[in-house]
Amino acid sequence: MGTLAVLNASQLVTLTGPRRPRIGAEISQLAIIRDGGMLIRNGKIDIVGLSDEIEKKADDAEIIDAGRRVVLPGFVDAHTHLVFAGNRLDDFERRALGETYEQIAAAGGGIWSTVEKTRAASDVDLLAQAKKRAQWFLRCGTTTVEAKSGYGLTVHDELKILRVIRRLNQETPLEIVPTFLGAHAVPREMSADEHVNCVIQEMLPRVASEKLAEFCDVFCERGYFDVEQSREILTAAKKLGLKLRIHADQLTNSGGAKLAAELKATTADHLEKTDERGIAAMKTSGVQPVLLPGSVYALGWADYPRAREMIEAGLAVVIATDFNPGSSPTPSMPMVLSLACTQMKMSPAEAITAATINAAYSLNLGDKIGSLEIGKLANFSIFDCKDYREIAYWFGFPPMHSVYVCGGRCVMSRAEEN
Ligand code: NIG
Ligand code: FE
Repeated sequence: MGTLAVLNASQLVTLTGPRRPRIGAEISQLAIIRDGGMLIRNGKIDIVGLSDEIEKKADDAEIIDAGRRVVLPGFVDAHTHLVFAGNRLDDFERRALGETYEQIAAAGGGIWSTVEKTRAASDVDLLAQAKKRAQWFLRCGTTTVEAKSGYGLTVHDELKILRVIRRLNQETPLEIVPTFLGAHAVPREMSADEHVNCVIQEMLPRVASEKLAEFCDVFCERGYFDVEQSREILTAAKKLGLKLRIHADQLTNSGGAKLAAELKATTADHLEKTDERGIAAMKTSGVQPVLLPGSVYALGWADYPRAREMIEAGLAVVIATDFNPGSSPTPSMPMVLSLACTQMKMSPAEAITAATINAAYSLNLGDKIGSLEIGKLANFSIFDCKDYREIAYWFGFPPMHSVYVCGGRCVMSRAEEN
């Protein structure tokens, strides 16, 4: 890989700052360089500064002219369910006509209907569907995603999904961090306790020995896995060297955030119903909250998580899509930024930090991606706007000009249209 020079950024949003997740007032500090540029050597950021200064050092470099647009690090989407078969159009229509998520799940829709389709799909078919979706993410400016299993729920099908995630990582430019979510729902063929045993005795040892996942997640919720069952699974996962994430307090304040704190999980995700005690527990243990406003929006609900209280309590907030066929069918981080600002009252700057550097730290990738700092991988996007706040302000379409991943490989460009 040669040398690249990015010139003429109206704002180069670097997110330069301490080498740890950003908290409190740091979350609004984007370290923007006006009229900025950067020099990239061998895929890594070598110099960051004023465009004029970069141009002087760019003799042998291929020039990327940002054309007075905003340049941002690639989005890091820290919570997705990327690999599944089919869609949930029937659930979507039933919800539109007034049925609830829980009613639809009880009547044979919900997670279970996606499990049936995913079990029936071959790995080749699943990979083809996932590759198409990986393109959607890249086109929205996302260069790294976390991806969970969880629509298999048998040893065979969970391993099948995790292997598809591995191949997706190898065969597309999207960087993918795998998470094992064998306890996403109770399969029809057994009780919750039987499934917990299967996850602990049969699935987790295979996942760990084949190194198919970095994290283990559990859907800790009434009707899914209670706190005791979730604790058993996550404790077993931790012993095998996996790090932890938890679907916590989405439908009820059921103690998920507190369990995350007790187990020193890396993240607790959703948190729509988490109260101040859960927030305080997360702070004490350094758990990062991952907020998923797309799922609240798409389910037609009104209870967004308490982002302001979390920021004020000193938590290193992350926002993510929760991309999945049931509750959040969007790959768009720009849409999530819009929801963070309009529904959770985060500022555009806070939303950008939560979608980049804080998200990167939540995947243990904070020293490699998430900001435009010297030594980091040159994953970045050019947005078709002059002011970074526009990324959260215009909504309903990704305002991308071009996207660069894998240290400067262009995967999407509208340059020819201008
Ligand atoms: O994060 N809450 C559990 N899992 C997903 C929904 C999955 C589905 O409905 O298929 C979520 O919202
Ligand atoms: Fe989820």
